[in-house]
Amino acid sequence: MQRDEGKLRSYFANPPEDVSLDDIDLDRLPCHVSFIMDGNGRWAQARGLSRSKGHVAGVDSLREAVTTSVRLGIDVLSAYAFSTENWKRPKEEVDLLMHLFATTLVKELPLFYQENVRLRFFGDIESLPRKTYKVFERGLNETASNTGMTFALAVNYGSRAEIARAARLIAQDVKAGTLDTQDVDDTVFAKYLYTGGLPDPELLVRTSGELRLSNYLLWQLAYTEFYVTDMYWPDFSKWEYLRAIRAFQGRGRRFGGVVES
Ligand code: IPE
Ligand code: IPE
Ligand code: MG
Repeated sequence: MQRDEGKLRSYFANPPEDVSLDDIDLDRLPCHVSFIMDGNGRWAQARGLSRSKGHVAGVDSLREAVTTSVRLGIDVLSAYAFSTENWKRPKEEVDLLMHLFATTLVKELPLFYQENVRLRFFGDIESLPRKTYKVFERGLNETASNTGMTFALAVNYGSRAEIARAARLIAQDVKAGTLDTQDVDDTVFAKYLYTGGLPDPELLVRTSGELRLSNYLLWQLAYTEFYVTDMYWPDFSKWEYLRAIRAFQGRGRRFGGVVES
């Protein structure tokens, strides 16, 4: 992925004491970074605000994560925004989130053009409220010819549902005679997932300290490096992003092999 060195340097000017762009090897960046954006509610609660204020603040962090990823030259950024389990939340919160997704996307489309970002969704977006779905469809159409970073938002996404769906689609193709049972291996299976065609995440960041996946990318995270920060999502900044990448670059990735000496 192309990156503008000048813009990158000025974006990371005035670093805090403990991290700077110089800590990062720009030739060894993760090609796909994924975020479980957690802790909006607790961030708001800690300030005596309503949970919705936390979600609104969370949008600013996501915008910053998109810009940071573009500046660094990350190929794929993905973020978990709404799980298949999040429908259990009070109706007012679900309604607020659906409204926020739609209004934010419309507002941010110019940023996507400007930064050449192509939008994509993981999850069953057709089952979302009509207005939200329509805006998502518009976002997909209007960014389809962008050639820069892919930004994938997981909305109404559940990994188990995704895997079951892939099995269903495979069964349909076998039945239709367009796919041979013998050819179904893990490479073919992966093509039927929402992430089909994208590299697996190399780095997964979860905010707010929770040590679980919450039904996110169970298949795709097989060899992903995890970085968990206690920071709530609305506090996540470009500097914490750099700390996550620095941690990633310090890991010895073996993929089941032996340690290189
Ligand atoms: C993450 O923040 C955003 C969504 C799941 C939509 P939460 O809303 O889960 O915040 P906490 O975990 O309750 O603090
Ligand atoms: C995971 O967060 C889902 C998203 C960030 C969209 P949750 O807040 O829903 O996860 P749990 O309930 O703490 O596992
Ligand atoms: Mg949460």
